[in-house]
Amino acid sequence: MGTLDGKIVLITGTGGGQGRAASLVFAREGAKVIGSDILAEANNETVELVRRDGGGMTGIAPMDLTDPEQARRTVEDAVAVHGGLDVVYNNAAVQYFGPMPDFSVADWRATIAGELDIPFFVTKFAWPHLVRRGGGVIINVASEAGMIAGAVPPMVAHTAANAGVIAMTRQLALEGARHGIRAVAISPGPVLTPASRRDLGDDTSAREAITAKTLLKRFAQPEEIVELAAFLASDRASYITGANYAVDGGATAW
Ligand SMILES: NC(=O)c1ccc[n+]([C@@H]2O[C@H](COP(=O)([O-])OP(=O)(O)OC[C@H]3O[C@@H](n4cnc5c(N)ncnc54)[C@H](O)[C@@H]3O)[C@@H](O)[C@H]2O)c1
Repeated sequence: MGTLDGKIVLITGTGGGQGRAASLVFAREGAKVIGSDILAEANNETVELVRRDGGGMTGIAPMDLTDPEQARRTVEDAVAVHGGLDVVYNNAAVQYFGPMPDFSVADWRATIAGELDIPFFVTKFAWPHLVRRGGGVIINVASEAGMIAGAVPPMVAHTAANAGVIAMTRQLALEGARHGIRAVAISPGPVLTPASRRDLGDDTSAREAITAKTLLKRFAQPEEIVELAAFLASDRASYITGANYAVDGGATAW
């Protein structure tokens, strides 16, 4: 028996990184996973990996979730697969970095859209379905950057957007409670994913600066973030809502 047996879970950003790891972990725990990404081929690979692992997953891709109409269609298509939704796992994001004052207005807007619009749009369209089902769980992936400033790389939009995700999660918890909806944020520290590989490349001094801020002196593996999400999505976490969990190797502890 899995902790998520029979739960219908929409995970965004399942083309790689934490979303791919989440698809595998949630399916192993018995969830019926529906995964969406802007990258169709990468998303199909995740569906294949989950099925080969013995799990159940349906892919909906390509979908650009910064577009409200595509976010709405993704949710409606996801609901149609098994007739409802129990968990919305807002994991997809895209972000840009750069120092003040040169960080461009275009990159600011793209980061706010990629990190704050996506979880709002998906949640907005999923909400009536969760209410109709008598409740559910919303998991929002934020970042340690929503709690502390970060020097490497310079991250003005990333900090603002993720503080927004944490704040939005509290509000969703408040408005969702009477419908049986729990909303929880997870704030990872540095994680080894395609995103961190893309942003840092072979810049070893940046990697060293980032790991130095953690107490554990390393990046996380995606599974180390996702295991908490699986617990928070389960009925074992039934008294947890409105909270933000740092999974950051101690980076925000000092
Ligand atoms: N990697 C880290 O160090 C780190 C640290 C803190 C927080 N996070 C957060 O964790 C979450 C997952 O990040 P990751 O590191 O696995 O990133 P990733 O880039 O490896 O994966 C994100 C996925 O989202 C998809 N995506 C991007 N834009 C999209 C769009 N417009 N519509 C649909 N899908 C889109 C990408 O194609 C990708 O598959 C994000 O919310 C990120 O902000 C990551």
